[in-house]
Amino acid sequence: MTESILQEIKQEFINGYVERGHPFRCFTLGTSQNNVPRLRTVVLRNVLPDMTFMVYTDLRSPKIETIKHNDIISALFYHPTKQLQISITAKAEIITNPNELKTYWENVPDHSKKDYTSQLAPGSPINLPENVIYSDEESHFCVLKLTPTYIDYLHIKRPNHIRVGFSKNETGFKGEFLVP
Ligand SMILES: Cc1cc2nc3c(=O)[nH]c(=O)nc-3n(C[C@H](O)[C@H](O)[C@H](O)COP(=O)(O)O)c2cc1C
Repeated sequence: MTESILQEIKQEFINGYVERGHPFRCFTLGTSQNNVPRLRTVVLRNVLPDMTFMVYTDLRSPKIETIKHNDIISALFYHPTKQLQISITAKAEIITNPNELKTYWENVPDHSKKDYTSQLAPGSPINLPENVIYSDEESHFCVLKLTPTYIDYLHIKRPNHIRVGFSKNETGFKGEFLVP
């Protein structure tokens, strides 16, 4: 019975990166280092059939150092009109292999490519916003590959809210209904 809900999650995920303006296009990525949680908004760039999903980022951004210490991340997606929340625990892999990055880089629109080429690392202090210098030669683009291990699905609706926890095992995800 929970299989159709898993399919719904997969479809909503795909819509998230295919449909412009879909509320899953941006999600909250949570990391933790030294017991301090840190959250930020990122863009959903791709979803694979096993539900591994991708984020593009700058290799020098603080989140990368955090993930090197603790590769277990959280991802929170919310669809306001459907009142659907999907909270994911995933294992993060930092992709830096140039051959693997090439395909992703080719899909980055030209006007966005500069976002990964600032001379100073993201988070460095500057005097004014217009004082960021971009390099023509060097890019710090990398991909975060996030592989879910647990998915918490919650659909707020009448007469019954529906909550399902999906745990990953050797064959895929196994779901069980939970008290919302
Ligand atoms: C709408 C929106 C989309 C964003 N998308 C990304 C993204 O796809 N990748 C990214 O690294 N940062 C993205 N950011 C910036 C992050 O929220 C964050 O400020 C930045 O990555 C630095 O995070 P860190 O200091 O934890 O590394 C986005 C911010 C906003 C507001």
